Amino acid sequence: MRLSDCHNIDDLRGLAQRRLPWPVFDYIDGAADDEVSKARNTAAFDDVDLVPNVLAGVAEIDTSCTIMGRESALPLMLSPTALQRVFHWQGERAVALAARKFGLWFGISSLATVSIEEIAALTDGPKLFQLYVHKDEALNASMIERCKEAGFDALALTVDTIVSGKRERCQRSGFTTPPRFTPSAVWSYATRPRWTLDYLFREKFRLPNLDTHVGEGTSKAVSIAEYFDTMLDTAMDWDTAARIRQDWGGTFCLKGVMSVADARRAVEIGADAIMVSNHGGRQLDGSRAPFDQLAEIVDAVGGEIEVICDGGVRRGTHVLKALAQGATAASGGRLYLYALAAAGQEGVEHALGLLRDEIERGMRLMGVTSVDALNREMLRAR
Ligand code: FNR
Ligand code: LAC
Repeated sequence: MRLSDCHNIDDLRGLAQRRLPWPVFDYIDGAADDEVSKARNTAAFDDVDLVPNVLAGVAEIDTSCTIMGRESALPLMLSPTALQRVFHWQGERAVALAARKFGLWFGISSLATVSIEEIAALTDGPKLFQLYVHKDEALNASMIERCKEAGFDALALTVDTIVSGKRERCQRSGFTTPPRFTPSAVWSYATRPRWTLDYLFREKFRLPNLDTHVGEGTSKAVSIAEYFDTMLDTAMDWDTAARIRQDWGGTFCLKGVMSVADARRAVEIGADAIMVSNHGGRQLDGSRAPFDQLAEIVDAVGGEIEVICDGGVRRGTHVLKALAQGATAASGGRLYLYALAAAGQEGVEHALGLLRDEIERGMRLMGVTSVDALNREMLRAR
Protein backbone atom coordinates (compact mmCIF):
# COMPACT_ATOMS: atom_id res chain seq x y z
CA MET A 1 0.00 0.00 0.00
CA ARG A 2 1.32 3.42 -1.00
CA LEU A 3 0.27 6.97 -0.19
CA SER A 4 -1.43 7.27 -3.57
CA ASP A 5 -3.60 4.28 -2.61
CA CYS A 6 -4.94 6.18 0.40
CA HIS A 7 -8.31 7.70 -0.48
CA ASN A 8 -9.46 8.64 2.99
CA ILE A 9 -8.22 9.04 6.56
CA ASP A 10 -8.96 5.42 7.39
CA ASP A 11 -6.67 4.28 4.57
CA LEU A 12 -3.93 6.46 6.08
CA ARG A 13 -4.57 4.80 9.42
CA GLY A 14 -3.92 1.46 7.72
CA LEU A 15 -0.67 2.69 6.23
CA ALA A 16 0.43 4.09 9.60
CA GLN A 17 -0.23 0.73 11.18
CA ARG A 18 2.05 -0.95 8.65
CA ARG A 19 4.83 1.55 9.19
CA LEU A 20 4.86 1.94 12.97
CA PRO A 21 5.99 -0.44 15.70
CA TRP A 22 2.77 -1.44 17.48
CA PRO A 23 3.47 0.36 20.78
CA VAL A 24 3.73 3.64 18.84
CA PHE A 25 0.66 2.94 16.69
CA ASP A 26 -1.32 2.02 19.80
CA TYR A 27 -0.27 5.23 21.52
CA ILE A 28 -1.81 7.25 18.67
CA ASP A 29 -4.80 5.04 17.92
CA GLY A 30 -5.60 4.05 21.49
CA ALA A 31 -7.85 5.72 24.02
CA ALA A 32 -9.04 5.19 27.60
CA ASP A 33 -10.72 2.14 29.18
CA ASP A 34 -13.11 0.51 26.66
CA GLU A 35 -12.53 3.28 24.09
CA VAL A 36 -16.28 3.94 24.03
CA SER A 37 -15.90 7.72 23.82
CA LYS A 38 -13.32 7.48 21.06
CA ALA A 39 -15.71 5.38 18.95
CA ARG A 40 -18.69 7.61 19.77
CA ASN A 41 -16.76 10.77 18.82
CA THR A 42 -16.87 9.66 15.17
CA ALA A 43 -20.17 7.71 15.29
CA ALA A 44 -21.99 10.80 16.65
CA PHE A 45 -21.71 12.43 13.23
CA ASP A 46 -23.71 9.54 11.72
CA ASP A 47 -26.69 10.22 13.97
CA VAL A 48 -27.54 13.39 12.11
CA ASP A 49 -28.17 13.66 8.40
CA LEU A 50 -27.49 16.54 6.07
CA VAL A 51 -30.40 18.05 4.14
CA PRO A 52 -29.02 19.65 0.99
CA ASN A 53 -30.46 22.47 -1.09
CA VAL A 54 -30.06 22.28 -4.88
CA LEU A 55 -29.76 24.66 -7.85
CA ALA A 56 -27.70 27.05 -5.74
CA GLY A 57 -25.09 28.05 -8.34
CA VAL A 58 -21.95 26.62 -6.75
CA ALA A 59 -19.33 27.34 -9.44
CA GLU A 60 -17.48 29.62 -7.01
CA ILE A 61 -17.35 28.66 -3.37
CA ASP A 62 -15.43 30.10 -0.42
CA THR A 63 -14.28 27.62 2.22
CA SER A 64 -12.48 30.19 4.36
CA CYS A 65 -13.44 31.50 7.78
CA THR A 66 -11.94 33.42 10.69
CA ILE A 67 -10.83 31.49 13.75
CA MET A 68 -9.49 33.32 16.82
CA GLY A 69 -8.82 36.43 14.77
CA ARG A 70 -6.91 34.79 11.93
CA GLU A 71 -8.08 33.73 8.53
CA SER A 72 -8.22 29.99 7.92
CA ALA A 73 -8.59 28.53 4.45
CA LEU A 74 -10.90 25.81 5.79
CA PRO A 75 -13.10 25.57 8.90
CA LEU A 76 -10.69 22.93 10.20
CA MET A 77 -7.83 23.04 12.70
CA LEU A 78 -5.03 20.62 13.51
CA SER A 79 -5.22 19.96 17.26
CA PRO A 80 -2.02 19.99 19.33
CA THR A 81 -0.57 16.52 19.90
CA ALA A 82 2.49 15.31 21.77
CA LEU A 83 5.69 13.50 20.74
CA GLN A 84 5.46 13.84 16.96
CA ARG A 85 9.15 12.98 16.46
CA VAL A 86 8.24 9.46 17.59
CA PHE A 87 5.62 9.09 14.86
CA HIS A 88 7.88 10.32 12.04
CA TRP A 89 11.38 11.78 12.11
CA GLN A 90 10.10 15.05 10.60
CA GLY A 91 7.79 15.49 13.60
CA GLU A 92 6.13 18.85 14.26
CA ARG A 93 8.03 20.50 11.41
CA ALA A 94 6.08 18.41 8.91
CA VAL A 95 2.75 19.40 10.45
CA ALA A 96 3.70 23.09 10.70
CA LEU A 97 4.77 23.24 7.05
CA ALA A 98 1.74 21.32 5.79
CA ALA A 99 -0.59 23.59 7.83
CA ARG A 100 1.12 26.65 6.37
CA LYS A 101 0.74 25.32 2.85
CA PHE A 102 -2.99 24.71 3.38
CA GLY A 103 -3.56 27.96 5.30
CA LEU A 104 -4.70 26.23 8.49
CA TRP A 105 -4.28 26.64 12.24
CA PHE A 106 -2.20 23.99 13.96
CA GLY A 107 -0.97 23.62 17.52
CA ILE A 108 2.09 22.27 19.24
CA SER A 109 1.87 20.46 22.55
CA SER A 110 3.79 21.26 25.73
CA LEU A 111 5.22 17.80 24.97
CA ALA A 112 6.31 18.81 21.45
CA THR A 113 9.61 17.50 20.12
CA VAL A 114 10.47 20.78 18.35
CA SER A 115 10.96 24.05 20.22
CA ILE A 116 8.55 26.95 20.37
CA GLU A 117 11.20 29.17 18.76
CA GLU A 118 11.90 26.85 15.87
CA ILE A 119 8.22 26.44 15.05
CA ALA A 120 7.73 30.20 15.11
CA ALA A 121 10.68 30.65 12.74
CA LEU A 122 9.30 28.00 10.39
CA THR A 123 5.86 29.50 9.76
CA ASP A 124 4.01 32.78 10.07
CA GLY A 125 0.73 30.87 9.69
CA PRO A 126 -1.74 30.71 12.58
CA LYS A 127 -0.38 28.57 15.42
CA LEU A 128 -1.23 27.90 19.03
CA PHE A 129 0.69 26.54 21.94
CA GLN A 130 -1.01 23.98 24.15
CA LEU A 131 -0.16 24.43 27.82
CA TYR A 132 -0.08 21.72 30.44
CA VAL A 133 0.06 23.30 33.88
CA HIS A 134 2.95 21.69 35.73
CA LYS A 135 3.63 21.63 39.45
CA ASP A 136 6.85 23.46 38.57
CA GLU A 137 5.58 27.03 38.28
CA ALA A 138 8.84 28.28 36.83
CA LEU A 139 8.33 25.87 33.93
CA ASN A 140 4.80 27.19 33.29
CA ALA A 141 6.08 30.77 33.34
CA SER A 142 8.93 29.85 31.01
CA MET A 143 6.64 28.28 28.39
CA ILE A 144 4.27 31.28 28.45
CA GLU A 145 7.16 33.72 28.16
CA ARG A 146 8.72 31.80 25.27
CA CYS A 147 5.39 31.79 23.40
CA LYS A 148 5.05 35.55 23.86
CA GLU A 149 8.59 36.15 22.63
CA ALA A 150 8.09 33.86 19.65
CA GLY A 151 4.77 35.49 18.71
CA PHE A 152 2.42 32.52 18.96
CA ASP A 153 -1.13 33.50 17.98
CA ALA A 154 -2.95 31.75 20.81
CA LEU A 155 -2.48 29.76 23.98
CA ALA A 156 -4.73 26.75 24.57
CA LEU A 157 -4.93 25.57 28.17
CA THR A 158 -5.88 21.89 28.32
CA VAL A 159 -8.26 21.27 31.22
CA ASP A 160 -9.35 17.65 30.74
CA THR A 161 -6.06 16.06 31.79
CA ILE A 162 -5.94 16.69 35.51
CA VAL A 163 -4.90 13.05 35.86
CA SER A 164 -4.16 10.58 33.06
CA GLY A 165 -6.90 8.51 31.47
CA LYS A 166 -6.49 4.72 31.79
CA ARG A 167 -4.92 3.87 28.48
CA GLU A 168 -4.82 0.12 28.53
CA ARG A 169 -3.09 -0.30 25.18
CA CYS A 170 -0.18 1.71 26.58
CA GLN A 171 -0.22 -0.30 29.79
CA ARG A 172 0.09 -3.49 27.72
CA SER A 173 2.81 -2.21 25.40
CA GLY A 174 4.82 -0.36 28.04
CA PHE A 175 5.03 2.70 25.77
CA THR A 176 7.19 5.44 27.25
CA THR A 177 8.59 8.83 26.32
CA PRO A 178 11.24 8.51 25.02
CA PRO A 179 10.41 5.02 23.69
CA ARG A 180 12.33 2.18 25.31
CA PHE A 181 13.19 -0.98 23.52
CA THR A 182 11.70 -3.29 26.13
CA PRO A 183 12.00 -7.08 25.62
CA SER A 184 8.25 -7.48 24.99
CA ALA A 185 8.21 -4.77 22.30
CA VAL A 186 11.60 -5.39 20.68
CA TRP A 187 10.09 -7.68 18.08
CA SER A 188 7.75 -4.94 16.88
CA TYR A 189 10.70 -2.55 16.45
CA ALA A 190 12.69 -5.22 14.60
CA THR A 191 9.81 -5.72 12.15
CA ARG A 192 9.74 -1.98 11.36
CA PRO A 193 13.39 -1.36 10.42
CA ARG A 194 12.73 1.89 8.57
CA TRP A 195 11.09 3.48 11.60
CA THR A 196 13.74 2.05 13.91
CA LEU A 197 16.66 3.32 11.81
CA ASP A 198 15.05 6.75 11.48
CA TYR A 199 14.48 6.83 15.21
CA LEU A 200 17.99 5.74 16.12
CA PHE A 201 20.07 7.61 13.57
CA ARG A 202 18.26 10.87 12.85
CA GLU A 203 17.99 13.85 15.18
CA LYS A 204 17.87 12.83 18.81
CA PHE A 205 14.51 12.80 20.54
CA ARG A 206 13.94 15.78 22.87
CA LEU A 207 11.12 17.66 24.54
CA PRO A 208 12.75 21.08 24.15
CA ASN A 209 9.98 23.10 25.79
CA LEU A 210 10.21 21.06 28.99
CA ASP A 211 13.77 19.80 29.25
CA THR A 212 15.02 23.16 30.47
CA HIS A 213 13.22 22.33 33.72
CA VAL A 214 12.43 18.60 33.92
CA GLY A 215 14.27 15.44 32.90
CA GLU A 216 11.17 13.23 32.85
CA GLY A 217 10.11 12.44 29.30
CA THR A 218 13.55 13.25 27.82
CA SER A 219 16.48 11.89 29.82
CA LYS A 220 14.26 9.77 32.06
CA ALA A 221 11.83 7.45 30.26
CA VAL A 222 8.33 7.54 31.74
CA SER A 223 4.89 6.49 30.54
CA ILE A 224 2.53 9.30 29.59
CA ALA A 225 0.33 8.29 32.53
CA GLU A 226 3.26 8.60 34.94
CA TYR A 227 4.19 11.93 33.41
CA PHE A 228 0.69 13.35 33.88
CA ASP A 229 0.21 11.91 37.34
CA THR A 230 3.51 13.11 38.75
CA MET A 231 4.30 16.33 36.86
CA LEU A 232 0.97 18.09 36.34
CA ASP A 233 -0.79 20.23 38.91
CA THR A 234 -3.96 18.49 40.14
CA ALA A 235 -4.86 21.60 42.14
CA MET A 236 -5.43 23.57 38.92
CA ASP A 237 -8.78 25.40 39.11
CA TRP A 238 -10.65 28.36 37.63
CA ASP A 239 -8.39 30.83 39.47
CA THR A 240 -5.38 29.15 37.85
CA ALA A 241 -7.00 29.44 34.42
CA ALA A 242 -7.87 33.11 34.99
CA ARG A 243 -4.32 33.82 36.14
CA ILE A 244 -2.80 32.12 33.10
CA ARG A 245 -5.16 34.06 30.90
CA GLN A 246 -3.85 37.27 32.52
CA ASP A 247 -0.17 36.26 32.39
CA TRP A 248 -0.46 35.36 28.73
CA GLY A 249 -2.50 38.41 27.77
CA GLY A 250 -3.12 37.22 24.21
CA THR A 251 -5.76 35.11 22.49
CA PHE A 252 -6.78 32.39 24.93
CA CYS A 253 -8.58 29.09 24.45
CA LEU A 254 -9.72 26.46 26.95
CA LYS A 255 -9.36 22.96 25.53
CA GLY A 256 -11.52 20.21 26.95
CA VAL A 257 -14.64 22.07 28.07
CA MET A 258 -17.74 19.83 27.95
CA SER A 259 -20.45 21.29 30.22
CA VAL A 260 -22.58 24.39 29.68
CA ALA A 261 -21.67 25.63 33.17
CA ASP A 262 -17.95 25.45 32.33
CA ALA A 263 -18.51 27.09 28.95
CA ARG A 264 -20.15 30.02 30.79
CA ARG A 265 -17.22 30.26 33.15
CA ALA A 266 -14.87 30.29 30.18
CA VAL A 267 -16.76 33.35 28.92
CA GLU A 268 -16.53 34.94 32.38
CA ILE A 269 -12.74 34.61 32.59
CA GLY A 270 -12.47 36.22 29.17
CA ALA A 271 -11.47 33.24 27.06
CA ASP A 272 -11.73 33.84 23.32
CA ALA A 273 -12.53 30.24 22.40
CA ILE A 274 -13.31 26.83 23.84
CA MET A 275 -12.53 23.49 22.32
CA VAL A 276 -15.40 21.17 23.13
CA SER A 277 -13.39 18.00 23.51
CA ASN A 278 -12.92 14.76 25.42
CA HIS A 279 -9.27 14.57 24.32
CA GLY A 280 -10.06 12.10 21.56
CA GLY A 281 -11.49 9.67 24.14
CA ARG A 282 -8.10 9.36 25.81
CA GLN A 283 -9.16 10.73 29.20
CA LEU A 284 -12.62 10.13 30.69
CA ASP A 285 -14.09 7.15 28.86
CA GLY A 286 -17.88 7.32 28.77
CA SER A 287 -17.65 11.09 28.43
CA ARG A 288 -20.09 12.53 25.90
CA ALA A 289 -18.90 13.07 22.34
CA PRO A 290 -18.09 16.70 21.44
CA PHE A 291 -20.49 16.65 18.48
CA ASP A 292 -23.33 15.31 20.69
CA GLN A 293 -22.67 18.09 23.20
CA LEU A 294 -22.17 20.87 20.67
CA ALA A 295 -25.75 22.15 20.31
CA GLU A 296 -26.28 22.84 24.00
CA ILE A 297 -22.95 24.63 24.27
CA VAL A 298 -23.63 26.75 21.17
CA ASP A 299 -27.12 27.60 22.48
CA ALA A 300 -25.65 28.74 25.79
CA VAL A 301 -22.53 30.69 24.76
CA GLY A 302 -22.47 30.87 20.95
CA GLY A 303 -21.85 34.46 19.88
CA GLU A 304 -20.01 35.22 23.14
CA ILE A 305 -17.09 32.88 22.53
CA GLU A 306 -15.83 30.79 19.62
CA VAL A 307 -16.82 27.14 19.89
CA ILE A 308 -14.51 24.59 18.29
CA CYS A 309 -15.67 20.98 17.98
CA ASP A 310 -12.63 18.76 18.60
CA GLY A 311 -12.45 15.03 18.03
CA GLY A 312 -13.73 12.21 15.87
CA VAL A 313 -13.46 14.11 12.58
CA ARG A 314 -12.47 11.78 9.75
CA ARG A 315 -14.53 13.19 6.84
CA GLY A 316 -15.26 16.54 5.23
CA THR A 317 -18.95 16.01 5.98
CA HIS A 318 -18.13 15.73 9.69
CA VAL A 319 -16.72 19.25 9.50
CA LEU A 320 -19.83 20.48 7.66
CA LYS A 321 -22.12 18.90 10.28
CA ALA A 322 -20.20 20.58 13.12
CA LEU A 323 -20.52 23.94 11.37
CA ALA A 324 -24.20 23.44 10.62
CA GLN A 325 -24.71 22.73 14.34
CA GLY A 326 -23.13 26.10 15.12
CA ALA A 327 -19.42 25.47 15.66
CA THR A 328 -16.88 28.08 14.54
CA ALA A 329 -14.66 25.28 13.27
CA ALA A 330 -13.88 21.60 13.70
CA SER A 331 -10.53 20.28 14.89
CA GLY A 332 -8.77 16.95 15.06
CA GLY A 333 -5.61 15.08 15.95
CA ARG A 334 -5.63 11.60 14.47
CA LEU A 335 -6.86 12.91 11.12
CA TYR A 336 -3.34 14.21 10.49
CA LEU A 337 -1.33 11.98 12.85
CA TYR A 338 -2.00 8.78 10.93
CA ALA A 339 -0.80 10.60 7.82
CA LEU A 340 2.30 11.95 9.56
CA ALA A 341 3.19 8.45 10.67
CA ALA A 342 2.48 7.06 7.20
CA ALA A 343 4.60 9.52 5.20
CA GLY A 344 5.80 12.63 7.06
CA GLN A 345 4.99 16.03 5.56
CA GLU A 346 3.92 14.49 2.27
CA GLY A 347 1.49 12.32 4.19
CA VAL A 348 0.02 15.25 6.14
CA GLU A 349 -0.40 17.19 2.90
CA HIS A 350 -2.12 14.19 1.37
CA ALA A 351 -4.56 14.01 4.31
CA LEU A 352 -5.28 17.74 4.17
CA GLY A 353 -5.77 17.55 0.41
CA LEU A 354 -8.33 14.76 0.86
CA LEU A 355 -10.19 16.70 3.56
CA ARG A 356 -10.14 19.95 1.58
CA ASP A 357 -11.53 18.10 -1.41
CA GLU A 358 -14.24 16.47 0.72
CA ILE A 359 -15.20 19.82 2.29
CA GLU A 360 -15.40 21.53 -1.10
CA ARG A 361 -17.37 18.70 -2.67
CA GLY A 362 -19.66 18.53 0.37
CA MET A 363 -20.38 22.26 0.22
CA ARG A 364 -21.25 22.09 -3.49
CA LEU A 365 -23.51 19.09 -2.94
CA MET A 366 -25.13 20.89 0.01
CA GLY A 367 -25.75 23.95 -2.16
CA VAL A 368 -23.76 26.40 -0.03
CA THR A 369 -21.15 28.82 -1.34
CA SER A 370 -19.72 29.96 2.01
CA VAL A 371 -19.22 28.19 5.32
CA ASP A 372 -21.37 30.67 7.27
CA ALA A 373 -24.35 29.60 5.15
CA LEU A 374 -24.39 26.23 6.93
CA ASN A 375 -27.13 26.15 9.59
CA ARG A 376 -29.35 23.82 11.60
CA GLU A 377 -32.07 23.82 8.95
CA MET A 378 -29.68 21.61 7.02
CA LEU A 379 -29.44 18.95 9.77
CA ARG A 380 -31.94 16.35 10.97
CA ALA A 381 -31.52 13.90 13.81
CA ARG A 382 -32.21 10.34 12.71
C1 FNR B 1 -3.49 14.06 21.71
N1 FNR B 1 -4.16 15.14 22.27
C2 FNR B 1 -3.47 16.08 23.01
N2 FNR B 1 -4.12 17.15 23.53
C3 FNR B 1 -3.44 18.08 24.25
O1 FNR B 1 -4.06 19.03 24.72
N3 FNR B 1 -2.09 17.95 24.45
C4 FNR B 1 -1.38 16.90 23.95
O2 FNR B 1 -0.18 16.82 24.14
C5 FNR B 1 -2.08 15.91 23.21
N4 FNR B 1 -1.43 14.83 22.71
C6 FNR B 1 -2.10 13.91 21.94
C7 FNR B 1 -1.41 12.85 21.39
C8 FNR B 1 -2.08 11.95 20.56
C9 FNR B 1 -1.32 10.82 19.96
C10 FNR B 1 -3.47 12.11 20.30
C11 FNR B 1 -4.21 11.16 19.40
C12 FNR B 1 -4.15 13.15 20.87
C13 FNR B 1 -5.60 15.35 22.01
C14 FNR B 1 -5.81 16.15 20.72
O3 FNR B 1 -5.43 17.49 20.88
C15 FNR B 1 -7.29 16.13 20.31
O4 FNR B 1 -8.09 16.59 21.36
C16 FNR B 1 -7.76 14.74 19.88
O5 FNR B 1 -6.79 14.15 19.05
C17 FNR B 1 -9.10 14.82 19.18
O6 FNR B 1 -9.55 13.56 18.78
P1 FNR B 1 -9.26 12.94 17.30
O7 FNR B 1 -9.35 14.07 16.33
O8 FNR B 1 -7.89 12.36 17.37
O9 FNR B 1 -10.32 11.93 17.15
C1 LAC C 1 -1.99 12.39 25.16
C2 LAC C 1 -1.36 13.59 25.63
C3 LAC C 1 0.05 13.75 25.71
O1 LAC C 1 -3.21 12.42 24.95
O2 LAC C 1 -2.15 14.67 25.83
O3 LAC C 1 -1.30 11.35 25.00
